[in-house]
Amino acid sequence: MFSMACKTQIVPFFFSITIHFFLLLIIDSASSQQILTIESRSNPAASEDCNNRWIHIRNLPSRFNLDLLTNCSEYPVFDDFCPYLANHGLGQKTHARSRSWYRTDPLLLELIFHRRILEYPCLTNDPGVANAIFLPYYAAIDSLRYLYGPDVNSSSQHGMDLFEFLQSDEPGIWERHMGHDHFLVMARPAWDFSQPLSNDPPIWGTSFLELPEFYNLTALVPEGRPWPLQEHAVPYPTSFHPQNLSYFQAWIQRVKRSRRTSLILFAGGGGIGSAPNIRRSIRNECDNSTINSNISSSFNIIQSNVLHSKLCHIVDCSNGICEHDPIRYMKPMLQATFCLQPPGDTPTRRSTFDAITAGCIPVFFEESSAKTQYGWHLPADKFAEFSVFIPKEEVVFKGLKILDVLMGIPRSEVRRMRQSVIELIPRVMYRRHGSSLGLRSKTDAFDIAIDGALQTIRDKLGNMLEH
Ligand SMILES: *[C@@H]1O[C@H](CO)[C@@H](O)[C@H](O)[C@H]1NC(C)=O
Ligand SMILES: *[C@@H]1O[C@H](CO)[C@@H](O)[C@H](O)[C@H]1NC(C)=O
Ligand SMILES: *[C@@H]1O[C@H](CO)[C@@H](O)[C@H](O)[C@H]1NC(C)=O
Ligand SMILES: *[C@@H]1O[C@H](CO)[C@@H](O)[C@H](O)[C@H]1NC(C)=O
Ligand SMILES: *[C@@H]1O[C@H](CO)[C@@H](O)[C@H](O)[C@H]1NC(C)=O
Ligand SMILES: *[C@@H]1O[C@H](CO)[C@@H](O)[C@H](O)[C@H]1NC(C)=O
Repeated sequence: MFSMACKTQIVPFFFSITIHFFLLLIIDSASSQQILTIESRSNPAASEDCNNRWIHIRNLPSRFNLDLLTNCSEYPVFDDFCPYLANHGLGQKTHARSRSWYRTDPLLLELIFHRRILEYPCLTNDPGVANAIFLPYYAAIDSLRYLYGPDVNSSSQHGMDLFEFLQSDEPGIWERHMGHDHFLVMARPAWDFSQPLSNDPPIWGTSFLELPEFYNLTALVPEGRPWPLQEHAVPYPTSFHPQNLSYFQAWIQRVKRSRRTSLILFAGGGGIGSAPNIRRSIRNECDNSTINSNISSSFNIIQSNVLHSKLCHIVDCSNGICEHDPIRYMKPMLQATFCLQPPGDTPTRRSTFDAITAGCIPVFFEESSAKTQYGWHLPADKFAEFSVFIPKEEVVFKGLKILDVLMGIPRSEVRRMRQSVIELIPRVMYRRHGSSLGLRSKTDAFDIAIDGALQTIRDKLGNMLEH
């Protein structure tokens, strides 16, 4: 009874989203193509900027993208991701009067990219002149049926249907560079797509990235493997998607002016078991710091000359309660000086990008949480300028106190670091599609990812010519 009642409620809502979605996508697709041809005819300068940057969007049957969204309430594990399809994958606004904040689910990065690439100024209809071919395939959404659903025992088949299509429909597009110029977005850690083909029965993941058929393409993922092969990591989408410069700047002003009343913030779950791990250590230290807050806070004043009314603040995000509710953690992040980014099931966290967006200095415990991942967006040689690194072994096994390390950083240094964090905000933000021209002049996470993919493909094709 209950589930039937739910379904009948969902249907009208879900249809209104998909119909809007289809219409807008078609309209947008048509208008961006039109803008493109008008601009490139009337303005030769525009096409000069596109030198070496032409992208062709491969025309895929809708079973590879839009059809996968029509079942959005029926996927295993995710009860229902229909609400997060709104606004072309940004989700619904957090509240009716919100300007730039949405309930964004990182799984929908594939949709967000697809929508944004329709605005890319150097699209071409002719694959023969393109420097790169984008595959609008919603790989992670399609993977759910293998990861959690009925197709778990055929997870080595993930992607074979796509490959067959690419070989049979206009095969010349793939053959021109044997797939080396193709790229796509896969909105889950590469780990979920790299199960060795020899695992029988399957242990975890699909084998998409292990198939020789896909060795040559470039995949943009939120987390890469330790030895990157086809993939490169790009930021998880946060909930911040401004649409014009004044909204963007209003947020930056708020971040700059915000009073940082907590020294440390940890927004997350875990660490409640008895096994020693970094999340457990963080919890212990935080619990103890409130008990001894008298001693610690006077110590803090002497050490860094900053008055924090709280040393350590934990926002409990267990059971996914923070996932689509950014207010729960963004306010505390705005009020904190340092935001802890301990690894969880995998080394990376979306929270790293939430923290940067709030001007909260990230504290990493593993290199693979960010430094070895996001080289395009967060340059590896700048990490000391905007983040703190505390090796997790030192904390978990050697008794190093996180509070001691952070309280030992002089106030002037903290200010410099925060300034560097704030400068990174546009680089990790996915601005709203259809943004004003003013905001488009700021290079955002999408722009950087496209430049990175184009460069990777240029390098690959260059190497092929040499050999
Ligand atoms: C949608 O779900 C139904 C039932 O779960 C399934 O038979 C169908 O193949 C799904 N369609 C897509 C496009 O995934
Ligand atoms: C997958 O294979 C395992 C072992 O062969 C079997 O126990 C399980 O029921 C299969 N799962 C599905 C969904 O077919
Ligand atoms: C991948 O590229 C190599 C050459 O670099 C080529 O031999 C191979 O056939 C390509 N694979 C596919 C599936 O096109
Ligand atoms: C930004 O967008 C809002 C809402 O559309 C509008 O009221 C405001 O004037 C815009 N600001 C600028 C600078 O375009
Ligand atoms: C915190 O206090 C508990 C007991 O109150 C103690 O067992 C634990 O070792 C302390 N942890 C840290 C990190 O100081
Ligand atoms: C805090 O300090 C006051 C006096 O300085 C003392 O009376 C009180 O017991 C202390 N509280 C704790 C929790 O240590």
